[in-house]
Amino acid sequence: MRFLLFILALLLTHCTGGASLEPEPELSTAMGQFERFSTKLGLALSAGNPRLAQFYLQELRETLENTQKTIPVHEGLPIGDLMQTLLVPPLAELEKALHVRDLPRSRALWPTVVEGCNRCHGATEHEFIRIKVVRENPFSQEFALQN
Ligand code: HEC
Repeated sequence: MRFLLFILALLLTHCTGGASLEPEPELSTAMGQFERFSTKLGLALSAGNPRLAQFYLQELRETLENTQKTIPVHEGLPIGDLMQTLLVPPLAELEKALHVRDLPRSRALWPTVVEGCNRCHGATEHEFIRIKVVRENPFSQEFALQN
């Protein structure tokens, strides 16, 4: 019995990499969140809804920072650094414009964020994953301001 327990413990430690029982963070799961939050951010911008846009910008930021922390490297690629170089600068510009409620500038900046996504897909040999500026709302959520 003791031996069996030992084997079980060994297997458990092996399966979890010896660290904890937390599942490994998946980059594709994080990317799904990137896609969802960024699509909603783009839709809020085109609907002229700065508060909603700011909310999704914050969500995207948090997901980004969290991913940089939990998945700094993926398949030998420096994910965290690439995000810092390719996505953080256009997001920071957008943040500034939204902060002063400059909607025309925020809207004009939106394609530069989407370009950041695609430049990184190119830099990580995933150029076949192409993100576009979405115009149709695929969600059940209302993006326009309530009047
Ligand atoms: C580090 C650079 C990097 C940045 C920046 C980046 N991605 Fe990705 N993305 C990747 C990599 C690498 C994969 C492939 C993940 C894998 O192999 O599982 C991926 C996969 C994806 C996928 C396919 C997985 C899925 O859920 O369908 C989508 C969609 C995606 N990214 C959206 C985005 C969006 C939207 C942005 C910008 C807001 C973005 N990505 C920014 C590197 C990046």
